[in-house]
Amino acid sequence: MATLAFNQEEIKARDLKPGLLELDGISRDSIEAHYKLYQGYVAKRNEILGKLAEVDASAANQVYSEIRGLKVELSFAIGGVKNHEIYFEHLGGQGGDPTGLVGDLIKRDFGGVEGWRADLKATGMSGRGWAWTAYDWDEGRLFNYVGDAQNTFPVWNATPLVALDVYEHAYFLDYQTDRAAYIEAFFNNLDWDTINEWAQKYGIQK
Ligand SMILES: [Fe+2]
Repeated sequence: MATLAFNQEEIKARDLKPGLLELDGISRDSIEAHYKLYQGYVAKRNEILGKLAEVDASAANQVYSEIRGLKVELSFAIGGVKNHEIYFEHLGGQGGDPTGLVGDLIKRDFGGVEGWRADLKATGMSGRGWAWTAYDWDEGRLFNYVGDAQNTFPVWNATPLVALDVYEHAYFLDYQTDRAAYIEAFFNNLDWDTINEWAQKYGIQK
Protein backbone atom coordinates (compact mmCIF):
# COMPACT_ATOMS: atom_id res chain seq x y z
CA MET A 1 0.00 0.00 0.00
CA ALA A 2 1.44 3.35 -1.00
CA THR A 3 0.51 6.85 0.11
CA LEU A 4 -1.59 9.35 -1.77
CA ALA A 5 1.43 11.27 -2.99
CA PHE A 6 0.76 10.15 -6.54
CA ASN A 7 -1.25 13.24 -7.33
CA GLN A 8 1.52 15.67 -6.37
CA GLU A 9 3.04 17.66 -9.18
CA GLU A 10 6.70 18.51 -9.48
CA ILE A 11 7.66 22.11 -8.80
CA LYS A 12 10.45 24.11 -10.42
CA ALA A 13 12.90 26.48 -8.80
CA ARG A 14 11.93 30.11 -9.37
CA ASP A 15 14.41 32.26 -11.28
CA LEU A 16 16.71 34.45 -9.24
CA LYS A 17 15.85 38.16 -9.57
CA PRO A 18 18.89 39.93 -11.11
CA GLY A 19 18.61 42.68 -8.46
CA LEU A 20 19.45 40.15 -5.75
CA LEU A 21 22.99 39.96 -7.07
CA GLU A 22 23.51 43.65 -6.29
CA LEU A 23 22.36 43.99 -2.71
CA ASP A 24 23.91 46.39 -0.26
CA GLY A 25 26.10 44.43 2.14
CA ILE A 26 25.01 40.94 1.06
CA SER A 27 27.30 39.67 -1.68
CA ARG A 28 26.52 37.93 -4.94
CA ASP A 29 28.40 34.89 -3.63
CA SER A 30 26.13 34.67 -0.60
CA ILE A 31 22.96 34.94 -2.69
CA GLU A 32 24.29 32.30 -5.07
CA ALA A 33 24.97 30.02 -2.09
CA HIS A 34 21.35 30.41 -0.94
CA TYR A 35 20.13 29.78 -4.47
CA LYS A 36 22.15 26.61 -4.89
CA LEU A 37 20.73 25.28 -1.63
CA TYR A 38 17.23 26.36 -2.70
CA GLN A 39 17.55 24.43 -5.96
CA GLY A 40 18.54 21.42 -3.89
CA TYR A 41 15.46 21.76 -1.67
CA VAL A 42 13.20 21.91 -4.74
CA ALA A 43 14.83 18.79 -6.20
CA LYS A 44 14.60 16.86 -2.94
CA ARG A 45 10.97 17.89 -2.42
CA ASN A 46 10.16 16.42 -5.83
CA GLU A 47 12.27 13.32 -5.23
CA ILE A 48 10.74 12.61 -1.82
CA LEU A 49 7.19 12.96 -3.11
CA GLY A 50 8.06 10.53 -5.89
CA LYS A 51 9.31 8.03 -3.32
CA LEU A 52 6.24 8.50 -1.13
CA ALA A 53 4.11 7.42 -4.05
CA GLU A 54 5.74 4.00 -3.83
CA VAL A 55 6.54 3.62 -0.15
CA ASP A 56 5.29 0.63 1.83
CA ALA A 57 2.86 2.35 4.20
CA SER A 58 2.13 -0.93 5.97
CA ALA A 59 5.69 -0.85 7.36
CA ALA A 60 5.13 2.51 9.08
CA ASN A 61 6.95 2.74 12.41
CA GLN A 62 7.71 5.69 14.66
CA VAL A 63 11.23 4.51 15.58
CA TYR A 64 12.32 4.07 12.00
CA SER A 65 10.51 3.39 8.81
CA GLU A 66 10.90 4.56 5.26
CA ILE A 67 7.68 6.54 5.37
CA ARG A 68 8.75 8.27 8.56
CA GLY A 69 12.10 9.29 7.08
CA LEU A 70 10.50 10.54 3.90
CA LYS A 71 7.80 12.55 5.67
CA VAL A 72 10.15 14.14 8.20
CA GLU A 73 12.66 15.15 5.52
CA LEU A 74 9.89 16.31 3.20
CA SER A 75 9.04 18.96 5.78
CA PHE A 76 12.70 20.05 5.79
CA ALA A 77 12.78 20.27 1.99
CA ILE A 78 9.49 22.17 1.75
CA GLY A 79 10.63 24.49 4.52
CA GLY A 80 13.82 25.19 2.59
CA VAL A 81 11.78 26.01 -0.51
CA LYS A 82 9.23 28.27 1.16
CA ASN A 83 11.65 30.07 3.45
CA HIS A 84 13.97 30.92 0.58
CA GLU A 85 11.16 32.02 -1.73
CA ILE A 86 10.13 34.58 0.88
CA TYR A 87 13.76 35.56 1.47
CA PHE A 88 14.52 36.10 -2.22
CA GLU A 89 11.30 37.92 -2.97
CA HIS A 90 11.39 40.46 -0.17
CA LEU A 91 15.05 41.49 -0.61
CA GLY A 92 16.20 44.00 -3.21
CA GLY A 93 14.46 47.01 -1.66
CA GLN A 94 15.72 50.11 0.07
CA GLY A 95 15.21 48.99 3.65
CA GLY A 96 14.29 51.80 6.00
CA ASP A 97 11.24 51.88 8.20
CA PRO A 98 8.29 49.66 7.31
CA THR A 99 5.55 51.47 5.43
CA GLY A 100 1.83 51.08 4.82
CA LEU A 101 -0.32 48.44 6.46
CA VAL A 102 2.63 46.37 7.68
CA GLY A 103 4.26 49.47 9.13
CA ASP A 104 1.06 50.19 11.06
CA LEU A 105 0.84 46.60 12.32
CA ILE A 106 4.49 46.62 13.39
CA LYS A 107 4.01 49.85 15.34
CA ARG A 108 0.88 48.49 16.98
CA ASP A 109 2.22 45.01 17.83
CA PHE A 110 5.80 45.84 18.79
CA GLY A 111 5.33 49.28 20.28
CA GLY A 112 7.25 50.86 17.41
CA VAL A 113 9.62 50.11 14.56
CA GLU A 114 12.67 50.00 16.80
CA GLY A 115 10.93 47.50 19.08
CA TRP A 116 10.22 45.23 16.14
CA ARG A 117 13.72 45.56 14.72
CA ALA A 118 15.38 44.87 18.08
CA ASP A 119 13.14 41.88 18.73
CA LEU A 120 13.65 40.35 15.28
CA LYS A 121 17.39 40.88 15.57
CA ALA A 122 17.45 39.19 18.97
CA THR A 123 15.28 36.38 17.62
CA GLY A 124 17.69 35.96 14.71
CA MET A 125 20.67 35.96 17.07
CA SER A 126 18.98 33.26 19.15
CA GLY A 127 18.02 30.97 16.27
CA ARG A 128 20.15 28.45 14.41
CA GLY A 129 18.47 28.84 11.06
CA TRP A 130 15.67 31.34 10.76
CA ALA A 131 13.64 34.08 12.37
CA TRP A 132 10.27 35.12 11.00
CA THR A 133 7.85 37.95 11.51
CA ALA A 134 4.48 36.29 11.02
CA TYR A 135 0.84 37.22 11.39
CA ASP A 136 -1.08 34.91 13.72
CA TRP A 137 -4.65 34.76 12.45
CA ASP A 138 -6.01 33.48 15.76
CA GLU A 139 -4.48 36.25 17.82
CA GLY A 140 -4.80 38.84 15.07
CA ARG A 141 -1.30 40.15 15.54
CA LEU A 142 2.32 39.95 14.43
CA PHE A 143 4.98 38.06 16.36
CA ASN A 144 8.65 37.19 15.77
CA TYR A 145 9.15 33.42 15.74
CA VAL A 146 12.42 31.49 15.91
CA GLY A 147 13.50 28.51 13.80
CA ASP A 148 16.51 26.25 14.22
CA ALA A 149 16.07 24.47 10.91
CA GLN A 150 14.01 24.82 7.75
CA ASN A 151 11.17 22.96 9.41
CA THR A 152 11.32 23.72 13.09
CA PHE A 153 8.90 25.56 15.32
CA PRO A 154 6.25 26.74 12.88
CA VAL A 155 3.02 27.82 14.56
CA TRP A 156 -0.22 26.78 12.92
CA ASN A 157 -2.31 29.48 11.31
CA ALA A 158 0.46 32.04 11.28
CA THR A 159 1.62 33.49 7.96
CA PRO A 160 5.22 34.64 7.56
CA LEU A 161 5.80 38.12 6.13
CA VAL A 162 9.52 38.51 6.90
CA ALA A 163 11.96 35.59 6.72
CA LEU A 164 15.44 36.24 8.11
CA ASP A 165 17.86 33.47 7.13
CA VAL A 166 20.51 33.06 9.84
CA TYR A 167 22.05 29.81 8.70
CA GLU A 168 25.81 30.25 8.44
CA HIS A 169 25.73 30.29 4.65
CA ALA A 170 23.73 33.53 4.92
CA TYR A 171 26.53 35.55 6.53
CA PHE A 172 29.81 33.69 6.85
CA LEU A 173 31.16 34.67 3.42
CA ASP A 174 30.49 38.36 4.06
CA TYR A 175 30.82 38.76 7.82
CA GLN A 176 32.48 35.58 9.16
CA THR A 177 31.02 35.12 12.62
CA ASP A 178 29.52 38.63 12.88
CA ARG A 179 25.92 37.60 12.40
CA ALA A 180 24.66 40.87 13.89
CA ALA A 181 26.28 42.87 11.08
CA TYR A 182 24.60 40.63 8.50
CA ILE A 183 21.22 41.14 10.18
CA GLU A 184 21.69 44.90 9.85
CA ALA A 185 22.43 44.42 6.14
CA PHE A 186 19.30 42.28 5.83
CA PHE A 187 17.18 45.10 7.25
CA ASN A 188 18.79 47.54 4.81
CA ASN A 189 17.66 45.49 1.81
CA LEU A 190 14.05 44.73 2.72
CA ASP A 191 11.44 45.66 0.16
CA TRP A 192 8.45 46.94 2.13
CA ASP A 193 6.29 47.29 -1.00
CA THR A 194 6.53 43.55 -1.59
CA ILE A 195 5.77 42.75 2.04
CA ASN A 196 2.74 45.05 1.96
CA GLU A 197 1.51 43.43 -1.25
CA TRP A 198 1.57 40.05 0.51
CA ALA A 199 -0.28 41.40 3.55
CA GLN A 200 -2.96 42.83 1.29
CA LYS A 201 -3.17 39.68 -0.81
CA TYR A 202 -3.61 37.59 2.34
CA GLY A 203 -6.36 39.90 3.57
CA ILE A 204 -4.63 40.98 6.76
CA GLN A 205 -6.42 43.93 8.30
CA LYS A 206 -5.68 46.34 11.10
FE1 LIG B 1 19.67 30.30 2.84
